[in-house]
Order: sequence, then structure tokens, then C-alpha cells
Amino acid sequence: MSVKIAIVDDEEMIQWTLKEAMESEGYKVETFDNGKDFLTYFKEYGADIVFLDIQLPDSNGLELLPEIIHIDPESIVVVMTAFGDVETAVTAMKKGAYDYLAKPYSIEEVNLLIKKIIQTNLVKSQLQHYQEKLESHFSHILGENYSIKLLREHIAMAAKSDHTTVLIRGESGTGKELVARQIHFQSARADKPFIDVNAAAVSGTLLESELFGHEKGAFTDAQKQKKGLFELANGGTLFLDEIGDLDASLQVKLLRVLQERKFRRVGGTTDIHVDVRIISATNANLEEKMQEGSLRKDLFYRLNVFTINIAPLRERKDDIVLLAKSFLDEYRKEFSKENITGFSEEALTLMQCYDYPGNVRELRNIIERAVLLETTNLIRPANLPDELRKNNNSIEFKGSQKVEQFTPVKAQPSDNSIKKEEDVTIPFADDKPWHRKDFNFKEYIDSVEKKIIEEVLVETGGKKTKAAEILGLSRFALRHQLKKHGMDSE
Ligand SMILES: Nc1ncnc2c1ncn2[C@@H]1O[C@H](COP(=O)(O)OP(=O)(O)OP(=O)(O)O)[C@@H](O)[C@H]1O
Ligand SMILES: [Mg+2]
Repeated sequence: MSVKIAIVDDEEMIQWTLKEAMESEGYKVETFDNGKDFLTYFKEYGADIVFLDIQLPDSNGLELLPEIIHIDPESIVVVMTAFGDVETAVTAMKKGAYDYLAKPYSIEEVNLLIKKIIQTNLVKSQLQHYQEKLESHFSHILGENYSIKLLREHIAMAAKSDHTTVLIRGESGTGKELVARQIHFQSARADKPFIDVNAAAVSGTLLESELFGHEKGAFTDAQKQKKGLFELANGGTLFLDEIGDLDASLQVKLLRVLQERKFRRVGGTTDIHVDVRIISATNANLEEKMQEGSLRKDLFYRLNVFTINIAPLRERKDDIVLLAKSFLDEYRKEFSKENITGFSEEALTLMQCYDYPGNVRELRNIIERAVLLETTNLIRPANLPDELRKNNNSIEFKGSQKVEQFTPVKAQPSDNSIKKEEDVTIPFADDKPWHRKDFNFKEYIDSVEKKIIEEVLVETGGKKTKAAEILGLSRFALRHQLKKHGMDSE
């Protein structure tokens, strides 16, 4: 879907150069040399952006402007004024023009302006397209763990009461943004903007003008009035990410919006009322920030109306396989590597034993990398990052007493590419195996030995010298063990 632009100007040269430049950027352009023809067309077909000259042979752009806005309030009008004619420009802006271009202008200037309009002013058709894309991309919060089921219920509740302020808490990469988008798209605000702002990424003063906009002349660079994100999000949702990093003066301003639903543009004197739902998110310890005085308590209580906590992935390990499979499916399509059908069982075990400090995002990245690197039909340990071997739940194979801590979740048998394997049961996983009826001391010790050697070989990527070193065995002794357990491939 491309942006539709109409140029209304009777100077052929201007029509031609603008059309040429805009079409080369991929926009759809129509040109008109008088107001009447343009209006006839506009009523029937509309346009996302209208470049309107003030001096037209049959009318004045300033008179056309209200008519255009009346026909389609969503379309954006840029007036083209004569050099130095500030008065006309100001009148046009007052009558609802989005911006003005003073002749002579450069093509770069025009292109920049169009990009800005598309990015910040949310051309209707583009926005819809964008939202549909977001919706389809972000429509699934995967997971069957109890905490995720509860999370889905909380999202539905938050979506229903679409004025309630929501605070989403969770470690980095747990899915806070995903949850925020879900709340928005399931709510009555779904067809209005979802605007996300990262409080940590922009400095204080810049963020203030981003959020609240500014009046012309409010500061040195403020050559034009600008609407802030609060205004642009009107009717929709403003997602304030990393709220723990908001600086002190902005905290006061935000508090005021939350309390009174109104604010002023930077340098402005009139209040602007907005209907925006605020969802904020943080991975910081806000209680600690309040204690040290870097977060206002009153702001915290205003933000913390409906809290949603997302558990770290290490606390819901039973979802690892399901998530991994979904990411695998996504990336094998993206990278045209549909020959990859699943994970080797060693790879699955490694993935399930890891703690994921970067949570779901880290798992996603691991799978993306593995799909890129894998040359066979199954993702194998060799293409998983080293961390998965290092941090393996404090397994210390040298001291046998530590082995019992190693109790990973069993590989999920639901995928036919994942072989069911009784060996995934880990030594001492169950209590006191010697009380089992079929317990056989010798066989049991043998299976423990075999399992340990297998794990260490997985860890070392099959390197026997390294495995022998880890096990504290000579290479000869290891070879003997491998033979004994039928694992000697030589
Ligand atoms: N339950 C889930 N199901 C599917 N994908 C998920 C899930 N949770 C997170 N993801 C994916 O993990 C990645 C990280 O999620 P997101 O950006 O929402 O995390 P975050 O908590 O906002 O992270 P940060 O604190 O670093 O900003 C995204 O690609 C997201 O789609
Ligand atoms: Mg985030």
C-alpha cells in the first residue's frame, strides 16, 4: 500500500519536479492545476497528503483548505506559500494545515517532510496497515505454564477496562512490550494509535517535547509548533517503556497528566485534554528507586493501578520446548531452511537446563542463530551457544554428591522429530531409587556412569580429550569407559 499524494499547483515546472521526486520514493502522485478539478477528484478518491498552492487560477488555497478538511479530516494538507509570506503560512496553520513550505524549497526538504508526516502524523491508511501488521505479528503469547495462562487472563481483564493504567513488570526479555500491545489490540482502543516511548532512550528535555509537544519558539530549535506523543496517541494507548528511568521533572508532568488528563505543550499556555490509556513497563526495582528517592511515590501509585507481573523463563521451563519450536518454525521459514525439522535430543536437553538471563528474547536469539548455522535436519548442540554448556544448573560431575541437583524437565514428546528417550531421566532424579522393586545396583551405577559421560561429551561438543579432563580421567580410562558402555565410535 503506498501513500497517495495530490499536488495542486498551476506552475507546470513545480508539478513536474515534485511528481518526479515523489514517485521515485514510491508514492502515488496526482497533479492538478486548479482547485475545481482537484476537489472533484478528492471527493471521489481522496488523498493522504495534499500539497496545496495558495495562488491558484480559480481559487485561493486558504479558501480550499477548510473544504478539504471538511471532506476528509484525516488527510494532511501542506500549503505552499510565496517566499517571506509568513502571514499566509500562519493563517493556513490556524485553519488546519499540517505544515507549510515556503518557495523556493528543495526536493530534500519535501521528501523529509513527507517522511515525517508518515512517521509521526500517522497517515490513516498507513497506520491501519501498520496496525494490522503489528496485530498479526504480535498476536500470540505462547505458553501453557500456569503463570502464562494467568497472564492471558490478566491481559483480557486489562483490555476490558480501557481507561485503567497498567504497570507491567518483568525481567528483560520476558515479553513486557508484547503484553502491552496485546492489551491495546484487545481493547476498545484497538483502532486508535499504540505509541511506544522509551524513557531510557531519550534525554529529559527532548523527551519532554516528544511527549508533550512544543509551541513555536519554545526553545532555540522550535521553529514550528509540534504535537507531542500524548496528542498523537489520543483515543489510543501510550506505552511508556523503562519507566524507572524517567527524570524528576518529567515525573511531575506525567503525574499531572495521570491525575488531570491534561497537559501543556512546552512553552504553551493552554491546557490540552487527551483521552489516552497509559501502560508503563519496567524491569527495575521500583520500590528500591522510591527508597533512594529517584522515583516519586505518588507517581508510582498512579502508575501501579493494575499490575501485571511476568515470570522469568527459568521459572516456567516447561514452556521452553513450545517456545523453541515456534521460533524454529518462524526462522526456518524466514531463512528458507525448511529442511530443519526439529531439535536433536541433546540440544533439547541443553536448552531446557539453561537459565536464560535474557529470557524469551534470548531463547529467540539462540534459535535464530542456530537455524542460520545448522547444516543438517536437526538443530544440534554444536550450533547452540557455549553459555548453554557452561551454566548448566551447577552440574559438577567431579563431585558425585552434586549430581542429584541436576533435575531438568523431560523433553516433551509431542513433536515427532523429538525422539522419546528414557535416557533423558537423569541419575538420582527420583528419590531413593534403591527402594524401587526392579533396582539393580550394578545396572544403576552403569547407567549413571553412561549418562555422565554422555552429558560431558555434549558439553565438550564430542571432544574426548576435553571430556577426560573434565571427568578427571586419563584418556585411556575414558576410552575404556566408552567401550564399556558401547559408546566408542572408533
Ligand atoms: N510468551 C511469549 N510468546 C511468544 N513470544 C514471546 C513471549 N514472550 C516474549 N516473546 C518474544 O520475546 C521477545 C522479547 O519480548 P519483549 O520485547 O516484549 O520483552 P520485554 O520484556 O519488553 O524486554 P525488555 O525489558 O528488554 O524491553 C520478542 O521477540 C517477543 O515477541
Ligand atoms: Mg521492552
